[in-house]
Amino acid sequence: MVKQRTLSIIKPDATRRGLTDAINEKIENGGLKIIARKDITLTQEQAGKFYEVHKERPFYGELVDSMIVAPVVVQVLEGEDAVTKYRNIMGDTDPANAAPGTIRAEFAESKGANSVHGSDSAENAMNEILFFFKEEELAD
Ligand code: CMP
Repeated sequence: MVKQRTLSIIKPDATRRGLTDAINEKIENGGLKIIARKDITLTQEQAGKFYEVHKERPFYGELVDSMIVAPVVVQVLEGEDAVTKYRNIMGDTDPANAAPGTIRAEFAESKGANSVHGSDSAENAMNEILFFFKEEELAD
């Protein structure tokens, strides 16, 4: 099986509540390896650009604002079928619909404050990873 990578962001609602280690435990127990990590506070410009695809959505402003109010933990996850695997570990965007045991079922507060982001396709994963990391930071 081919290894794949995906991008994870532990969002301000979660870092603020001290949930980073508990979330990383779920990621690792789910079979994904954390191969790179940056603890940063996003600027409005960075958050706006990262979520540009949602620019026309009514929640865009709220989403961008929610991403800059506290530090985030940006990580590259690696493993077999990493994109889908991480989406299953995260659970549904809306915590009310997230399966028991998933990160969002246990920790998310709402659709907006949903604790984690994960890439939604292999192609987006590559672009999102390169948004935050240089190739040389990801060498095996
Ligand atoms: P994320 O995986 O980071 O990708 C886009 C984000 O938009 C999503 O998680 C949610 O946090 C947010 N989002 C999606 N739908 C809504 C909504 N209806 N209201 C507020 N935020 C939303």
